[in-house]
Amino acid sequence: MKVTIYGSGYVGLVTGACLAEVGNQVLCVDVDADKIDALNRGEIPIHEPGLDELIHANMKSGRLAFSLDAKQGVDHGLFQFIAVGTPPDEDGSADLRHVLTVARSIAEHMTDYRIIVNKSTVPVGTADAVRDAVQNGLTERASQGDFDVVSNPEFLKEGAAIEDFMKPDRVVVGTDNPRTGELMRALYAPFNRNHDRVMLMDIRSAELTKYAANAMLATKISFMNELANLAEHLDADIEEVRRGIGADPRIGYHFIYPGCGYGGSCFPKDVKALERTARQVGFNAELLGAVEAVNERQKDVLFSKIHHHFDGQLSGRTVALWGLAFKPNTDDMREASSRKLMEALWQAGAKVRAYDPVAMDECRRIYGDHPALELCETHEHALQDADALAIVTEWNVFRSPDFESLRQHLKQPVIFDGRNLYDPEMLDKSGFSYYGIGRGK
Ligand code: UGA
Repeated sequence: MKVTIYGSGYVGLVTGACLAEVGNQVLCVDVDADKIDALNRGEIPIHEPGLDELIHANMKSGRLAFSLDAKQGVDHGLFQFIAVGTPPDEDGSADLRHVLTVARSIAEHMTDYRIIVNKSTVPVGTADAVRDAVQNGLTERASQGDFDVVSNPEFLKEGAAIEDFMKPDRVVVGTDNPRTGELMRALYAPFNRNHDRVMLMDIRSAELTKYAANAMLATKISFMNELANLAEHLDADIEEVRRGIGADPRIGYHFIYPGCGYGGSCFPKDVKALERTARQVGFNAELLGAVEAVNERQKDVLFSKIHHHFDGQLSGRTVALWGLAFKPNTDDMREASSRKLMEALWQAGAKVRAYDPVAMDECRRIYGDHPALELCETHEHALQDADALAIVTEWNVFRSPDFESLRQHLKQPVIFDGRNLYDPEMLDKSGFSYYGIGRGK
């Protein structure tokens, strides 16, 4: 089948590469000439395990190509995927400018039946807006075909996106046309393992499903973070509580890890956008507001602990920081807890020596040559002359450090662990001051 994908960002590239891999002819279209040039040279602009190989192999086989030409895109694919960004605007709602620009450009060039698929995370009702934009763009053309608009939200996790696409839990397809539903089912047939993963539903329910999934996951995390903070007041250990509640299959062990807050391009944005959508229809979604507020506060927890440990005397101190990305296996620092922590430390007059296995370039891009930031070549190097170690991302390489050498490098044996990687008792015995999240007083 022929597929066009607008937007060669994270979602567009993963979708394009995976659809090409199972035999489709995929054309990825983007307005950014530098990006398309780079992709045509085989340079992949994002870090995602397995993506480079997949793109290179499918370019070589001729099933995957990149273009700046929207007309070529509209001519090419029966399926027209919109996978452009929907950044939050000032009031937290998703900015649909790019989505609607693509819709208008499809209308401008369309001469035959097309299935327009919303893959971007868009508020409930966007399919209607896309349909209107296309319809309005078509009116003056005689030769236009009919078209359908489908909602097909993505559920990809950064760092595991290829696996998530290739072996989905579910493929949600919102459509009001059963025939289009069957065509979408056929497109996704290669990704069905053992049984059909495609769930056909009405368009608005599909749009809401995307937000509901992310909001539910974010709620689980904020709930655990709230409980972790309470556990500190009660001198209980949240990690024991986590084991205790996770054993109940109705709760489960997934996504109940307390930490220094969730980040990334999805949870913070989507929770805010859903709350905003609720407000627009006159509904006060109280829980969503609380989920976001708890998370914002949680991103300050490590700084508060550091501040408290040093009696507010942070000026002239140096903190070693392990991890910059919002989670392991990505270089993404959007809404990362590391940013709030570094900025608070700088504000208080402290310096940061940071290390991340892949996000150093991204950090350089964001902060340039910040005078109070040194990016170090290894995680051991970051410890040199530091007064304390703070950990914000649970990269595997941080999980089992040589504590003896850690003690020798640090000026004081103090660890602030935002991901509960270590055993407090063991560290206590080894003479460390160890601060986890929710691990007793
Ligand atoms: C999330 C969802 O998990 C995907 O299903 C969804 O498709 C995606 O958003 C999206 O909307 O595109 P992602 O943002 O890549 O994926 O990352 P997650 O693995 O979900 O982690 C998000 C944040 O939650 C990270 O900062 C992580 O450290 C934090 N987290 C996760 C916790 O603090 N505790 C947990 O138990 C789990």
